[in-house]
Amino acid sequence: MDLMLTQPNPEGEMDDAIGTEPFRPQYHFTPRRNWVNDPNGLVYFEGEYHLFYQYNPHGMDWGHMSWGHAVSADLVSWRELPVAIPETDQMIFSGSVVVDWENVSGLGEGKAPPLLAFFTAFDEARSIQSQHLAVSHDRGRTFVHYAGNPIIDLDLADFRDPKVFYHAESGAWIMLVALARDHYIQFYRSQNLLDWTLAGSFGPMGSTSGQWECPDLIRLSMDEDPANAHWVLKVDVDVGLVDGGSGAQYFVGQFDGHRFTMDPELSGLSGALVDQGPDFYAAVTWSDLPAEQASPVWIGWQSNHQSGKAYPTYPWRGAMSLPRELYLFPEGEKLKLGQRPLKALTGLRSAERRGVTGSLAAAASQVSFAREKSFWQDISLGGDAGTTGTVSLSDGHETLLTITVAFGGEQISFERHASAFGPVDFFERKTTTRLPLPARIDLQILVDGSLVEIFVNGGRRVYSASLFASDGMSTSIECLTGTLRVERDDLALMQRSIDFSP
Ligand code: FRU
Repeated sequence: MDLMLTQPNPEGEMDDAIGTEPFRPQYHFTPRRNWVNDPNGLVYFEGEYHLFYQYNPHGMDWGHMSWGHAVSADLVSWRELPVAIPETDQMIFSGSVVVDWENVSGLGEGKAPPLLAFFTAFDEARSIQSQHLAVSHDRGRTFVHYAGNPIIDLDLADFRDPKVFYHAESGAWIMLVALARDHYIQFYRSQNLLDWTLAGSFGPMGSTSGQWECPDLIRLSMDEDPANAHWVLKVDVDVGLVDGGSGAQYFVGQFDGHRFTMDPELSGLSGALVDQGPDFYAAVTWSDLPAEQASPVWIGWQSNHQSGKAYPTYPWRGAMSLPRELYLFPEGEKLKLGQRPLKALTGLRSAERRGVTGSLAAAASQVSFAREKSFWQDISLGGDAGTTGTVSLSDGHETLLTITVAFGGEQISFERHASAFGPVDFFERKTTTRLPLPARIDLQILVDGSLVEIFVNGGRRVYSASLFASDGMSTSIECLTGTLRVERDDLALMQRSIDFSP
């Protein structure tokens, strides 16, 4: 098969084909062209959800970091806009945006509140990272750099990724920043969003195998007990976490406006994994969500710092995960972070359903569907202790991913296999997670071009990966031991929700 993946075409030549390339996701955001990594500056303002992101306007590899920009009215359909914050003599690294509702910064003009973007400016020549501010008066289309920059400068090489939010209980704006190589998250306070005072820090804790990046601190409650809120501190680690690669860990505790105190009983000392898969990084939550969106929502970069540089997509590289709603749930003595796909995404499901219900009694029985490129499949499996089964995704030739469920063993594992198109280095990965497995397990499998997100038991575990199938994927269910009940196997095609028009 001739996929023409690596032959750059002259600028413009492919415009008509943009959106239809091999591996192109249809309902996960990707830019038309070029390299993308972390989501940045997620904010809702005047009817628009903003998605800024680390972007190289000049090529398909990391570099010239600037803030790309896309907007959505519903977090489902996205339209790419021109670059919002281009690199200057410094690169524009990750950060966040807030609405300065009361113009405490004094940077507002006229009646509309300004949007303030906090980001790390990376001065490559001096090897210094410091925190900068830029302001927008036109709904995030353009930003003006603040004359008093840098707003925080410790003369450090690895000091980055400011996340700002308002902490009503202590009446201050809070900024989290990572001291990446020292494995600390610092907490700064401010009244005017310009002058920041160090209030506390957290770390090192959990995984310190690589650099700490992109912190977020999120107030979450349990579905059953909304009054019982806790704070979750999420920290990404660029190497050595998920099966040796990059990933995110989280801690559960309390935040008093000055410091985050981890609760060892609720959290466990080691830090729990946010996602079991290789491709979910740098997630951050939306600021200023409308009241009807009660739970926090975040999105992550659906790639990783090891194999992501070699993903064979063209003419873009990198993608955003689906927006996920966050919640807490009890598991044994602990509180855990749950993530479920935003409800509004179900609107993309086709009316047509294909379903199977039955029992796979004999070992090695299997069910499969024709190959599709973008689908959502709900599979519920049941079994007594000793029953094991697999659900696999394949491209008709090769198995790309195997999920193995062991009833009684309380264990589920995900194995991404080498494939014809996937990069060679650091691609094959296996992660195993333990979770209470009653007699039934629900898998929501969302496939989209080269991306798959799998939500287990309503998001109590999540697995995100890139898989490179030449022409869509199909699912098969196999019973290895015992009797596997397939209580529901329901597949719907997914419609495109990304506008790729120039
Ligand atoms: C995380 C990260 C951030 C940094 C940005 C640079 O992926 O390394 O720490 O700000 O990417 O693109």
